[in-house]
Amino acid sequence: MIAMVIVALTTAVIAYLVKPILDEIFINKNQTLLYVIPIILVVVYIIKGIAGYIQSYFMEYTGQRIVADLQIDLYDHIVMQDAEFFAKNNTGSLTSRFLFDLHRLKQAISQTITGSLRDLTTVIGLVAVMFIQDWKLALMSLTIFPIAVYPIVRFGKNMRRYAVGQQEEMGSLSAILKESFSYNRQVKIYTMENYEIDRATKSINNVFKLMVKAAKVRALSSPVMELLGGFSMAFIIIYGGTRVMDGIITTGAFFSFLTALMSLYRPIKGLANINNVLQEGLASAQRTFEMIDKKAQIIDKKSAKQLKLKQADIEFKNITFAYEDEVVIKDFNLTIPQGKTVALVGSSGAGKTTILNMIARFFDPKKGSVNISGVDIKTVTLKSLREHIALVTQDIAVFDDTVYNNIAYSKQNASKEEVIKAAKAAAADEFIIELEKGYETRLGEDGNTLSGGQKQRIAIARAILKNAPILLLDEATSSLDTESEQQVQKALKTLMKGRTTLVVAHRLSTVVNADIICVMKKGEIVEQGNHKELMAKKGIYHNLYKIQEAL
Ligand code: GTP
Ligand code: MG
Repeated sequence: MIAMVIVALTTAVIAYLVKPILDEIFINKNQTLLYVIPIILVVVYIIKGIAGYIQSYFMEYTGQRIVADLQIDLYDHIVMQDAEFFAKNNTGSLTSRFLFDLHRLKQAISQTITGSLRDLTTVIGLVAVMFIQDWKLALMSLTIFPIAVYPIVRFGKNMRRYAVGQQEEMGSLSAILKESFSYNRQVKIYTMENYEIDRATKSINNVFKLMVKAAKVRALSSPVMELLGGFSMAFIIIYGGTRVMDGIITTGAFFSFLTALMSLYRPIKGLANINNVLQEGLASAQRTFEMIDKKAQIIDKKSAKQLKLKQADIEFKNITFAYEDEVVIKDFNLTIPQGKTVALVGSSGAGKTTILNMIARFFDPKKGSVNISGVDIKTVTLKSLREHIALVTQDIAVFDDTVYNNIAYSKQNASKEEVIKAAKAAAADEFIIELEKGYETRLGEDGNTLSGGQKQRIAIARAILKNAPILLLDEATSSLDTESEQQVQKALKTLMKGRTTLVVAHRLSTVVNADIICVMKKGEIVEQGNHKELMAKKGIYHNLYKIQEAL
């Protein structure tokens, strides 16, 4: 800010120096000042240059830092959001918000901070020179000012409207891009290329229209300001010229005044533009802060304790669960005894994954409680709860990283031996060592370089490595061929020993050894018992088993 004031002062001094240059050198023909004034001028320009450099650098630094801090805040916040948030918001539009909105904000912050403060101080300095040279003339010319302010405000309002529209449209465009690129095989097989092209074209054109509208406003604002400047200039020459001819002010004073006035044009234009940029930035800020203000619902209670168990049992007590208002689980009761394996089977959409989700608190039930060894999981910290759980999800997740890091993801300080041991247990080691760079092979986005079964084995190895007392397996072996499934089952069997395990499986042959099998239908348990008991009962389970056996 000190540098800014210096820049403003030197600009004013340069405008002021026009008076002695004209009056002393050109009109009075003063020999000494002919050399003194140019030297002063050069010194002033050197000071202005140094101060200008310092203020630009520090202001840009500040602006960039603010944005970086904001990005970090926003990222922290989004990562901490509930599972529900990610189910509702598509990743394309989230990513676009993160990059596009914050880029806009970055521009607004760096331009308004650097711009407005410097331009404002410069305007003050120059206006001061005008008053010093001829206060009457200055007062006259500044009355034109309010007329110039009106269009600036109008332009700003329009800019903001267009900016909000643009950002929303950008969000849907990136969603379209992400979907059509990552589901490209679906697009191809159903020959939907033209449909996707239409969809993208429409969205791109919408962005285009809004961009052009904004450009129109931006393009208009400059000539309008310039025209207003031209009018005032004509007026000032007539009025000021009369005053010089009448001998009220010197020629030098008038030209110094005119120089100051003309130098005003750039900072004022800058200030006018700042309003536009600021309006665009405010639109981004609005969307960004809306997201930052959205609080996660599933968080630690103030009184939350640490959960610390070697072994655990799990109890679902009178659970009612709904996604938004749609009840999917009603009055659900189930106990998974310590170290035992419970299997959930039943038709698709029965609510099996939902039950698993509640143990990890991805979602909380509307009524009832989930207890681990008698402790309501809502009363312990999320971190300590989740440390007790290893989970293999139905939709397998691998990161765009090396095989090694993908497995070690569940245990940050795992030794190399542990990772390889886990991979061997998951029957993954055999295909990993065949890969081009072994454990150091990068998997690419969504692990596209691996088969479905290979990805599944990496996910299982990751769960094995975590060595947690609770194991949740959601269709963990569904993509494996019978032979590797048998291998993995063997590994899982040793893994399940002593651990409290909840398995979801459609292939009943994989659950016959479970201690308890629960058959679910529409969010309720309709049959319960071990394989033998359920077969003897000749109910739903028996039927399902017979059908699968016949296949
Ligand atoms: P499969 O995995 O197909 O065997 O089914 P599942 O038994 O695991 O069913 P799940 O628990 O995933 O779903 C139970 C019901 O909840 C279904 O009717 C789903 O449509 C619904 N459901 C699942 N996830 C969501 C969600 O995120 N939002 C909403 N609104 N409904 C959901
Ligand atoms: Mg499921």
